[in-house]
Amino acid sequence: MTRGHERIGPTAHYTAYVWRAAGFERAELFSTWQGAALYWGFFAAGEWATRLSRGTPSMRVYLEYRHRLIDAVVAEHRPDVVVELGAGLTRRAVVWALDEHAMGLEYDLPDMVSRKRAALARAPDAVRRALAGRHRVEAANVVEPGFAATLREALQDAERPVVVAEGLLSYLAGSERAQLYSSVAGALGPNGLFVSDLHTRAGQASVGISASVLRTAIRTVTRRRKALDPYADEAQVRRVMGHAGLGTVSFTEPSAYYDAAPKLRRLHSPTHIVTARVARAEGCR
Ligand SMILES: C[S@@+](CC[C@H](N)C(=O)[O-])C[C@H]1O[C@@H](n2cnc3c(N)ncnc32)[C@H](O)[C@@H]1O
Repeated sequence: MTRGHERIGPTAHYTAYVWRAAGFERAELFSTWQGAALYWGFFAAGEWATRLSRGTPSMRVYLEYRHRLIDAVVAEHRPDVVVELGAGLTRRAVVWALDEHAMGLEYDLPDMVSRKRAALARAPDAVRRALAGRHRVEAANVVEPGFAATLREALQDAERPVVVAEGLLSYLAGSERAQLYSSVAGALGPNGLFVSDLHTRAGQASVGISASVLRTAIRTVTRRRKALDPYADEAQVRRVMGHAGLGTVSFTEPSAYYDAAPKLRRLHSPTHIVTARVARAEGCR
């Protein structure tokens, strides 16, 4: 595992606070005081500067856009199983388990899994009862080769699984991303969908100087030398995913979801939400 993975965790608290503030259902189950403290610390560290330019998303808009658009893409797929890789404090798998009668399955590193389980243990009785047998939070290093077998086994009976990696890829080294793609490709099956956010240099260039303000703020919170290492361009994304066995790679056009998710209309971001399926030759199992 790349050194510093344990430092990504704080951003999960931050994001959970943003989701609650943005009114996402069930977000209150996972919002923490650490998230609130980070939010305002982040603001002081320079995130405020992004609010000076109308063309640049604030950190709140950036995170809300990502989460809403991924939600819309997931909903369109009508999954029977929702998997979150590097789940952090996301509410998505819980929402699908509670409100849509899907199976929710979350993977993260042990510390975060403990926090998530503790948050679930504090949830109202009715929520805990409804989640029983429908939702699991498991410790796993999703960039290790052994995770391929774990995910394949977890999805062996799934008809239309969705595997989401939100806010994760940007922190991983190229080899780790490749391993993760390969594990997903080996487990998705013919009707599965992989959904992730990622960055390209072209996308980042579209918000100019403010992208570096955001990067600096993220580095401050995660104490990493590098964050948000982008792909060169869309062609590189297709190539790398293709090598790992993922095909039908698609860069989501947000306007296609404006009717289903009207709040997306007021949000924007340099982030790409990318979907992929198992490459055709590997689609049969
Ligand atoms: C930036 S947070 C994103 C969390 C959540 N998906 C979100 O959108 O807010 C990244 C999460 O990935 C987890 N993570 C990082 N490396 C991981 C790995 N190798 N295996 C499993 N989880 C990992 C961290 O613990 C953290 O919870």
